[in-house]
Amino acid sequence: MSLFRTKNLDDMVAQSRAAGGLKKVLGPLDLVMMGIGAIVGTGIFVLTGTGAVTAGPALTLSFVIAAMACGFAALCYAEFASTIPVAGSIYTYSYATMGELVAWMIGWDLLLEYGLATSAVSVGWSGYFQSLIGGFGIKLPVALTAAPGSVPGVDTLFNLPALIIMLLLTAMLSFGVRESARINSVMVVIKIGVVLLFIVVGARYVEPANWQPFMPFGMQGTMSAAALVFFAFIGFDAVTSAAEEVKRPERDLPIGIIGSLVVCTILYVIVSAIMTGIVPYQQFAGVDHPVSLALQYAKQNWVAGFVDLGAILGMTTVILVMTYGQTRVIFAMSRDGLLPKRLSSVHPKYGTPFFATWIVGIVFGLIAAVVPLGVLAELINIGTLAAFCLVSVAVIVLRKTRPDLPRAFRCPGVPIVPGLAIIFCVALMTFLSKTTWIAFGIWLAIGLLVYFAYSRRHSLLNTPK
Ligand code: ALA
Repeated sequence: MSLFRTKNLDDMVAQSRAAGGLKKVLGPLDLVMMGIGAIVGTGIFVLTGTGAVTAGPALTLSFVIAAMACGFAALCYAEFASTIPVAGSIYTYSYATMGELVAWMIGWDLLLEYGLATSAVSVGWSGYFQSLIGGFGIKLPVALTAAPGSVPGVDTLFNLPALIIMLLLTAMLSFGVRESARINSVMVVIKIGVVLLFIVVGARYVEPANWQPFMPFGMQGTMSAAALVFFAFIGFDAVTSAAEEVKRPERDLPIGIIGSLVVCTILYVIVSAIMTGIVPYQQFAGVDHPVSLALQYAKQNWVAGFVDLGAILGMTTVILVMTYGQTRVIFAMSRDGLLPKRLSSVHPKYGTPFFATWIVGIVFGLIAAVVPLGVLAELINIGTLAAFCLVSVAVIVLRKTRPDLPRAFRCPGVPIVPGLAIIFCVALMTFLSKTTWIAFGIWLAIGLLVYFAYSRRHSLLNTPK
């Protein structure tokens, strides 16, 4: 039964509500901004290229389908976040509800999600960076521009810019230069500004004929693209990591989570409609900066330059938030004894989990250098979709086991809404490739091994209080 031992929920809730903790300064608008900061990145700026080739103009529909899966899951997240407003996100929630083994597996799954997401966004960053410096006539040696095998017919060795940005941001985080809410907001405003600029300028060059046929690859293509561009929505869960710093978490967290998701869905649908309206979808094959390509196609090179710059800044915030989230989950797992203690050691001078941060930066920087983006994105998606399913299950479980717990925000229509989240997520998962499933299976199997060989014996829950 020790596999299902749980952390004491009432202790956790009391701890999070006690005075004297972190300063409670964030309001609903800050949270929506934070959400958008973590969400808008490689998904919209890069993966829309592959998405358009896979679905055709029906890419807009793919975005709506992916958004629905996220929306149902977001309602479940919101219930948890408003009930247990503590840091650590779903790893912590599941430790309190479904027991140690499930919590461990979710934590292990999050390591994959956040870790590879940083790699993937670095690869996206690299594509835009190269497009930007290309505008000034600077070209890197081809061998250093991409992972081997990622550009058909071109011999590439590794993705140098992706490795460098990952290491630079690791250095920033490890020395304690955390993006303050203010810097983050500035970057987010620029990022949204660039997306709006694209919409305003791009709309004038749309040729409605390009939207015909709307669904050249049928539902199969539309769903496959949905499973891929699902990536574009990942990050709204990052809002929950601010739980302890929110003024009125019960009200503001759900607004932050759902609000940022709604804003992003609207932007994504419009952007993908305009992109596929300007450029015939076939021409996005192999393009790693599709949004600015659309503007170049419309002969708006100046605006394309702005978009490149905005995309670079925007993706930088995503990498920062994700790397930060990653170190935080590792920190929480290590503090609970499930990972080696060294990983939650805090640097005496910089006050950061220095060791864990560098491990993360180096490992995932190298992965960014040698693994193609498509492969990375699929793996992240399967991990995240699995986590969303578990959150939905956890909501149903907690309603049964702790009906008494005060819930400031209640997910409507339980168990139907969590059920729909599970159905949508599993449906999207079935459209991911076999290789992705196998890789995910291997990752989970390694996780189980580590749990039984190490974590179970070192868990703090072994020590009676
Ligand atoms: N949603 C984030 C992005 O698209 C991960 O970059």
